[in-house]
Amino acid sequence: MIEVKNINKRFHDKKTGDFYALNDVSFTVSDGEIFGLLGPNGAGKTTLLRILSTIMEQSDGMVIVNGFDSKKKPEDVKRSIGFLSGNTKLYKKLTPLETMRFFGSFYGIGKEVMENRIEHIIDSLDMNDFKDRIIEKLSTGQVQKTSIARCMIHDPQIYILDEPTLGLDILTSRTIIDFIKGEKEKGKTIIFSTHYMEEADTLCDRIGLIHQGSLIQTGTIDELKEKTGKSNIRDIFLYYIDQQGFLDSGVVSNAI
Ligand SMILES: Nc1ncnc2c1ncn2[C@@H]1O[C@H](COP(=O)(O)OP(=O)(O)O)[C@@H](O)[C@H]1O
Ligand SMILES: [Mg+2]
Repeated sequence: MIEVKNINKRFHDKKTGDFYALNDVSFTVSDGEIFGLLGPNGAGKTTLLRILSTIMEQSDGMVIVNGFDSKKKPEDVKRSIGFLSGNTKLYKKLTPLETMRFFGSFYGIGKEVMENRIEHIIDSLDMNDFKDRIIEKLSTGQVQKTSIARCMIHDPQIYILDEPTLGLDILTSRTIIDFIKGEKEKGKTIIFSTHYMEEADTLCDRIGLIHQGSLIQTGTIDELKEKTGKSNIRDIFLYYIDQQGFLDSGVVSNAI
C-alpha cells in the first residue's frame, strides 16, 4: 500500500523565489492495485514518483510505502519497491543477463531463486533474443526492457514506473503492458505515470489526474466518466482542467 498525505515539494530559485512542483497532494494506492498518474509535461509526475521512491524528499507531508515512512525508513522503502525512472543506469558492456545477476547480487538472493526469477522476467518481457548481447548494441525498446528487468530482480511488492512505455513502438509497449498486468495478477501493487490515454484505460484500476503540481481528481475511469459525462480520459482530463480554471488548452491538449 502507498499512502501520500498532504505533500508539497518546494524548489527554490534565486531569481523567481519559491516554486511548488507539488501542491498538497494526497492519495492512496491499495495492495494489488494499478494506479495510473496522468498529466502533461511538467505536471509533477516524476517529482512525485521520485519522492515515493525516496530519491527525493518532500518539503511537507508524509509518505508511507509498504508500511514504512519514507523519511524515517528509506532503506525499508527501497527494499519494498522497484523504481523505473527515465535515467535508470545500466552498464553498457554488460548483457541483460549479466545485468540482472549483477543487480540481483546486491540483494543477497540465493542462486536458484535468482535464476528462476531471471527466467520468469526474460520470458515475460520477451528478452530471449537479446539476453546475451551487450547493452550498447541494443535498441531503445530492448534497453527499456532491461531497465525494467533490473528494477524487478529483487521481486519487490510495489512497482513505481515513470513513463515505462515512453517513446517505444507498439509491440514493445504491449509486452511491457502485459508484463505489468501479469505482475498485478501476482498481487503486486503498481503506480505508473503516462501520457498515453489508451494505456491508462486498459491498464488502470484507478487514475489520478495531475496538473501544475495538483492532483485534481482520482477515481476509477468509470467513476470519472460518470461524474463528467465524458466518454474518454482525454475529455475527462480537459473537463477537469476547465473546471479548475486552468484552461490553457493549447498546451494541455497537445501534451495529452
Ligand atoms: N530539481 C528541480 N529543481 C527545480 N525545479 C524542478 C526540479 N525538478 C523538477 N522541477 C520542476 O517541477 C515541475 C514538475 O516537473 P516533473 O515532475 O519533472 O514533471 P513531469 O514528470 O510531470 O513532466 C516542472 O516545472 C519542473 O521544471
Ligand atoms: Mg516526468
